[in-house]
Amino acid sequence: VLRERFSRPLDRAAARLSGSTEEDAALLGADLWGSLAHARMLGTSGILSKHSAERIEDGLRAIARAAARGRFALDPALEDVHLNVEHALTKRLGADGERLHTGRSRNDQVATDLALYTREALLGAEERTLAVVDALVTAARSPGGRRSVEAWTHLQPAQRVYWGGLLGAHALRFLRDAERLAAVRRGIRRSPLGSGAIAGSSLPLDRARTARWLGFEGPSLSSIDGVSDRDASLEALFAIAQVHVHASQLGEEIVIGSMPEVARIRLSEGFVTTSSLMPHKRNPDLAELVRAESAGAIGRLTAALALVRSLPIGYQRDLQAGKPALVEAFARLDATLEVLAPMIAEAELLSPPARDPATGSVELADELVRSGVPFRRAHTRVATFLAEWERLGRPEGPHGPAGLERAFPELAGRPFRWPRAEEEPDRRITAGGSHWKEVDRLLRSIETRAGRARRETAATRRRLERARAAFGLPESLFERARRDRRSARRR
Ligand code: ARG
Repeated sequence: VLRERFSRPLDRAAARLSGSTEEDAALLGADLWGSLAHARMLGTSGILSKHSAERIEDGLRAIARAAARGRFALDPALEDVHLNVEHALTKRLGADGERLHTGRSRNDQVATDLALYTREALLGAEERTLAVVDALVTAARSPGGRRSVEAWTHLQPAQRVYWGGLLGAHALRFLRDAERLAAVRRGIRRSPLGSGAIAGSSLPLDRARTARWLGFEGPSLSSIDGVSDRDASLEALFAIAQVHVHASQLGEEIVIGSMPEVARIRLSEGFVTTSSLMPHKRNPDLAELVRAESAGAIGRLTAALALVRSLPIGYQRDLQAGKPALVEAFARLDATLEVLAPMIAEAELLSPPARDPATGSVELADELVRSGVPFRRAHTRVATFLAEWERLGRPEGPHGPAGLERAFPELAGRPFRWPRAEEEPDRRITAGGSHWKEVDRLLRSIETRAGRARRETAATRRRLERARAAFGLPESLFERARRDRRSARRR
């Protein structure tokens, strides 16, 4: 293709390296939408006749319908999605097909495709991340959420909290992730279409119009920046990596919590595996794989930053090499979150007996503070008491927590009692602390913010669907892209 100025075809191996049809399949819907907007604008601006523009639109719609039925495979011999569509159009229309590329370059075309694709894919990522938030909040509000569990620092028993508080904290992270993904999406505001190869066009392209038709606020301010800006891809890769890092930390806690020595969470049978050799095994493989997916996500972000790091401004062919990782990033995120949400929803939250029965030590010191003892002194005395108690083999009765008044005469007449495991979380009353009232407040504020995020995501989806409907684009083309992403194979 496009070899007229050369005397021989592209070398075979070179053609293989040069092609991008595999990853471009995910961009097909975006490419057709961009082309429809461009064609309509060529007609309304008088650059093409109304008749030609309409024929091109009809031809593109026919291709879109074929693609929606899975009947438009990209031919690797035609290098990329752009040339595939143009070739198919020309086969249908003849000369009018050859008019589509008027005033356009594949450079502004691919930038436009990526903006449309990323914006759409982010919507899906937001929805899936919010589903994890939902699963965590629902689990936090389940009866298991009212059970107490050790919160760890340094992976040592620290203070007991409600499972609901622990899961609420994880939910808050994923909520911020969903809000971050949405912020990246809202940042995709300007249309590169009409930037041409790098410097715009001598034809009177109406860039404001195509921008509006594609759901953008307006055209990019600089054609030079328009063809080279990949900020949104990088931001999306970061936001995705951040979700994976949070998922991986949660996955790790699930793996540890499933150890028989810890036994604080029990995964449902849908999310455990056994060993091919040891029939007794009940392994948390899926939590481990959730943990593992973060590695690739971090790698894709690092690779994308490295790819653009020293590129001169303007379109450089290197940019093409960044596309597979972007498509793959969305696919792997989908696959990960689709497992994580039900894994949490179906997990049983257990309250194993305290490993360290003294996790209420701070509450004892606090009580001494209330009776006038300086905190540092209270800390030392509680530490000495616990050391002695341990030396005696942790007895009950007068030498144990039940006989505190012997060691701490200040407690005489005060209502202090060493908290039982299930009482401990409610002893701490500070804002954001472990008391159920605070857990409930946290969960309610997460629910409010998640609801707002969900409504905004859905409203955006409706707005984009309306914009596409104005071009007669089958919505299943975009749903198909979403499905394809989910089932995309690891490379
Ligand atoms: N296939 C290319 C890409 O994905 C499209 C732009 C090619 N432009 C060019 N001048 N070769 O980035």
